[in-house]
Amino acid sequence: MKKLTCMLVLMVASALWSVSFAQNSIKKHNGMNLTDKKVLVAFFSRTGENYAVGNITKGNTHIVAEMIAKATGGKLFEIVPEKAYPEAYDACVEIAKKEKEAGARPAVKGDVAVEDYDVVFIGYPNWWGDMPMPVYTFIGKHRWQGKTVIPFCTHEGSGLSGTERHIAEVCKGAVIGKGLALKGATAQNAREQALRTVSAWIEKL
Ligand SMILES: Cc1cc2nc3c(=O)[nH]c(=O)nc-3n(C[C@H](O)[C@H](O)[C@H](O)COP(=O)(O)O)c2cc1C
Repeated sequence: MKKLTCMLVLMVASALWSVSFAQNSIKKHNGMNLTDKKVLVAFFSRTGENYAVGNITKGNTHIVAEMIAKATGGKLFEIVPEKAYPEAYDACVEIAKKEKEAGARPAVKGDVAVEDYDVVFIGYPNWWGDMPMPVYTFIGKHRWQGKTVIPFCTHEGSGLSGTERHIAEVCKGAVIGKGLALKGATAQNAREQALRTVSAWIEKL
């Protein structure tokens, strides 16, 4: 009888330990616990002629933004400049350079209530080692105190450049999560590979 009681106690203790281990693993695995949070995925992306991908009808960053929104259950919001950038790559590069040098804040269409969200992913292509200026316009329209902001960018060699730092400077009071940089051509032409990278990054957040 004593043996039986001992075995029962051990079995219950082992079952309890398993449950608590599983719960801890879930907490660790999903450190930011995105499932409990209201998530916004705000992004800027451009179609037309682009470096390494030719003429595209859906921008590289747009593709990544959709992957993030699907994985997190987040709401997508596209940052659209009132004046569209040229379809031609070289013409766009010239305008982007001038806007960066001038610290321009081009007007953007529409808006989203950022204050309704806990976690905001901000996505953009790397333009001249920076974010496109309309992304600054969007950020400047909102208060970021208490938000978690997670940057992601597509690029063709420069990675995030200094943009995580720039976001920390302009999203005052926000906690900045670890950013993702993905090559635009990978997002556009190797979507399964891109999705694996995006999923692995989200799991580690
Ligand atoms: C105006 C402009 C400037 C760019 N500057 C850079 C750069 O400095 N470094 C880099 O790696 N890629 C640069 N690129 C390439 C883009 O970052 C890359 O193609 C990106 O994936 C485009 O994303 P989108 O399709 O979402 O607009 C530039 C592209 C454009 C149009």
